[in-house]
Amino acid sequence: LNVVVLMGGWSSEREVSLTSGRGVAAALRERGWSNVTEVDMDRNVAQVLTGIRPDVVFNALHGTPGEDGTVQGMLDLMQIPYTHSGLETSVIAIDKELTKMVLVPHGVRMPAGKVVTSESLHREDPIARPYVVKPVNEGSSVGVAIVTADGNYGNPIGRDVEGPWKHFDRLLAEPFIKGRELTVAVLNDEPLAVTELQPKAGFYDYDAKYTDGLTTHVCPAQVPDDIAKAMMDMAAEAHRLLGCRGASRSDFRWDDEQGEAGIFLLEVNTQPGMTPLSLVPEQAKVRGISYGELVERLIHEALE
Ligand code: DAL
Ligand code: MG
Repeated sequence: LNVVVLMGGWSSEREVSLTSGRGVAAALRERGWSNVTEVDMDRNVAQVLTGIRPDVVFNALHGTPGEDGTVQGMLDLMQIPYTHSGLETSVIAIDKELTKMVLVPHGVRMPAGKVVTSESLHREDPIARPYVVKPVNEGSSVGVAIVTADGNYGNPIGRDVEGPWKHFDRLLAEPFIKGRELTVAVLNDEPLAVTELQPKAGFYDYDAKYTDGLTTHVCPAQVPDDIAKAMMDMAAEAHRLLGCRGASRSDFRWDDEQGEAGIFLLEVNTQPGMTPLSLVPEQAKVRGISYGELVERLIHEALE
């Protein structure tokens, strides 16, 4: 099979995607796949793919336009099968507000947020403190800040500063959920495990995600069985409701003083990271699936 691993691009998660993509390509070669081309996506990607004529694309892109449906639509038009979710699912899942519109009416608990502009944030608090501000359609915690009672926590962004928020036209303000940070990967419609992220300082931001040693990953998470089960069910349900394919990863906060009612789904990632520190490969491993097998499973599902 002629495989293209599509990676890089120009999103804020470019570097993460290059790491994901190189890992995927290396794993395929190690497993004997000889016809693997790494493509760092540029605006001429359609021409490049026309030249290579791959049988399948492993989509290792993160963010815009590789995770938001744009690349998926292009590949649909070109009739090239690809890994992970399709066009409609990607359009919805990249947008945390659209995701809520689909999932909340079906009983999936998510924080009640408010979409605001950066200008309005500079004028007033959109909701009561403490709250979290995040771009509606970014990944890897880019642009995320926690606004505490006495100021900002996380990225150095304040109302007095023309911070990175000015690059985002739609921002989501959500009540800060105290407690614990957990995540569940779903592979081929089956939830794999629950991982707890324990950042050594601050919150699970970009650096804590991608710098070895800054976050402890506990998998399986040390949470009561009923909580783990509820979270895994919720992740599988979100994956199904959104029509995800291949792998997805649902991120949660759990207010452990509230039991099951304290579980909140934050978002569903349709292009979850495949770096050495990433969570989907880690959960797969806990379930006896190696990184290479995971990559092959995703390709086989794309070709079904
Ligand atoms: N957005 C990053 C790549 C993730 O979800 O893992
Ligand atoms: Mg995300």
